[in-house]
Amino acid sequence: MRILGIETSCDECSSAVVEDGRRILSNVVATQIPFHAEYEGVVPEIASRKHAEWIPRVVGQALSEAGVSAEDIDGVAVTAKPGLVGSLLVGVSFAKAWAWALGKPFVGVNHILAHLYAPLLSEDVDYPFLGLLVSGGHTLICRVDGFDDISILGTTIDDAVGEAFDKTAKHYGFGYPGGLAIDRLARKGDPAACRFPSPNLYKGEHRYDVSYSGLKTAAIRQLDQFWNPAYPRTPENIAAAFEKAAVDMLLSRLERAVEDTGLATVVAGGGVAANTYLRSRLAGRTGLRALFPPLELCGDNGAMVAGIGFKYLERGDRDGLDLNASPRVPIFRRLDRPAAGRD
Ligand code: KG4
Ligand code: ZN
Repeated sequence: MRILGIETSCDECSSAVVEDGRRILSNVVATQIPFHAEYEGVVPEIASRKHAEWIPRVVGQALSEAGVSAEDIDGVAVTAKPGLVGSLLVGVSFAKAWAWALGKPFVGVNHILAHLYAPLLSEDVDYPFLGLLVSGGHTLICRVDGFDDISILGTTIDDAVGEAFDKTAKHYGFGYPGGLAIDRLARKGDPAACRFPSPNLYKGEHRYDVSYSGLKTAAIRQLDQFWNPAYPRTPENIAAAFEKAAVDMLLSRLERAVEDTGLATVVAGGGVAANTYLRSRLAGRTGLRALFPPLELCGDNGAMVAGIGFKYLERGDRDGLDLNASPRVPIFRRLDRPAAGRD
């Protein structure tokens, strides 16, 4: 089955053709970064306008790069939630119209589940495994029992990890988008230059939760308090210390989840899964199989949407023309006491 995937939930206008949920025939990602850079953040009105202008061409390019015509497509998958509602609506409306005009089945997919599917486009992984979804809008540690079956172990109690990268980078003028700018600077810095405090959320329902608002405030407003005066206060050192604190917080919670569940496979997804330090720390952890999407599939892309869309369409799921976009999703089922994984 060849599925056309459409992704317009934020600032990437993307479309892909994927065969049988695995073989990527094309994956066109038209980034809007230059249009949002001067505001150092995504401007929702600009994002939806650009999607409306670009989507027909991006879909056309995805088909031509895949070497297929519209008739060769067996179904359409589109991100329907969560995201910026104006942006989502462009993709959902286009997908519905395109599928209706050509008489193809279509299905709306959840962006979070699509990110967790991204590494499965190229790897064989057995369920269950632990999922680490880290992006500009989400921070989740979860147990994944199927492509559409996840239970939340931990999440952020305030800001998403990518948001903390973006806001810290914005404050220091490191560049936009912030996560990539910090990653690049950090490679030339020394994380020992600053010892940021780590929130103590050890107990009960917060055992796997993270919190980034304290780190963000410390990095932006209280640098003097935590800085080691033996080190020069360079952008590289600030970036390295911030990155280590932000990523180590994720790793400590993930470590608890690995120990408690006995699950030894971690699948990461989302823009922050592109982070060099996170990737090397997880890949270097003995006894753990860590799977990351290739860098081009970490951020928002149509291939992950077409990939997971295949799973739904294959089992007969269809959406009707009443499919709507929704900016939020109800939080997935939360697991208080994780069951052992090797059952
Ligand atoms: O998944 P994504 O493209 O969009 C959302 O669904 O949010 O993730 C974007 C986030 C941004 O916060 C961006 O700064 C962050 O991913 N990011 C990174 C890196 N590349 C992108 N964060 C840390 N290190 C990176 N290399
Ligand atoms: Zn995303």
